Amino acid sequence: MDLERTLVLVKPDGVQRGLIGTIINRFEATGMKVVGMKLMQVSEELASRHYGEHEGKPFYAGLVDYITSAPVVALCLEGPDAIAITRKLMGATRPNEAPPGTIRGDFGVEVSRNLVHGSANADDAAREVGLFFSGAELIDYARSNDIWIVSDEG
Ligand code: RTP
Ligand code: MG
Repeated sequence: MDLERTLVLVKPDGVQRGLIGTIINRFEATGMKVVGMKLMQVSEELASRHYGEHEGKPFYAGLVDYITSAPVVALCLEGPDAIAITRKLMGATRPNEAPPGTIRGDFGVEVSRNLVHGSANADDAAREVGLFFSGAELIDYARSNDIWIVSDEG
């Protein structure tokens, strides 16, 4: 069984709108395990490292303003296929293309206020988890119902 870890951010609009619990619940309800979680203010420096791939694009300055405008909640989620499952629950980048039942489809209307971030692939996940969490902030622990969420057959 290959467990993955991925970085999720409840973006400033999600925090401001009182959707922290609602959004985390979507992820938690799948059975993915929260192994790191904190409320934090993203600095300009962290924003530029996190969103470095978008530097030079027309929306980049607005994106950095957005993510640094108010606190975010950062989570590290663990589970089999955690990266793809997280992206599926988020829905497409643009809320008008995100189906009902997804976070962006249900709660958003505009790409620049799309509520949530999730790492796109394994390389990004490793890099982003390392940007937002120290080793000591990621906790390995067992849950008594883990065997009902992840079998040892894969
Ligand atoms: P994220 O990185 O936040 O999880 O989102 P994503 O992979 O679905 O989308 P990505 O292409 O990585 O874009 C990062 C964030 O930039 C904002 N954006 N604005 N105005 C625009 O055309 C535009 N395009 C992207 C969004 O907040 C998007 O989530
Ligand atoms: Mg992205």
